[in-house]
Amino acid sequence: MIKTTSFVSLSVAALLSVSAATASDFSSQVDARQSSFLSMADNLRQMKKLEDGSDSDWEQIKTLALENAKIMSELPVMFPEGSAQGSKSKDAVWSKWDKFESGLVSLGGEFDVMALAADEQNAKALKSAMKTADRSCKSCHRAFRAKW
Ligand code: HEC
Repeated sequence: MIKTTSFVSLSVAALLSVSAATASDFSSQVDARQSSFLSMADNLRQMKKLEDGSDSDWEQIKTLALENAKIMSELPVMFPEGSAQGSKSKDAVWSKWDKFESGLVSLGGEFDVMALAADEQNAKALKSAMKTADRSCKSCHRAFRAKW
């Protein structure tokens, strides 16, 4: 009898703590996605420096582009429903999820294009993909990221 009671109260306590965690605490997911965006932005900045018109470090550009393609492919699962609080994501991320997700996917695609361009040492294709990527940051941030 005593055993049963303590077992029941233990499981209730466990359930309560689980639901409290899922209801409000997405801070680790928010941190993770923000640092993913930060690394991606940092890698892109480095790639632009490495592309210098004459003696570009193609190998390194390719490595960074592939890293960024991987970051972009991992980002969609880092936006659990209800995790807007404490982040810069607008509610539109979830209310217009398909549009948001396809923005992440197409930026990932631009990094694939950059990796291929680096492989072919094609500066023109590389710069054009970088330009497309830069445009995507602005348009997505306007729609989906809070300004503060
Ligand atoms: C499909 C949408 C989308 C695209 C494309 C996108 N971002 Fe973002 N970005 C976001 C959202 C949403 C956040 C806010 C994340 C959060 O705090 O929940 C964010 C956050 C960031 C952050 C984290 C720090 C901050 O100021 O919020 C950086 C840095 C960043 N983005 C840079 C970029 C760069 C550079 C590009 C383009 C190369 C880019 N992003 C493309 C949606 C996007």
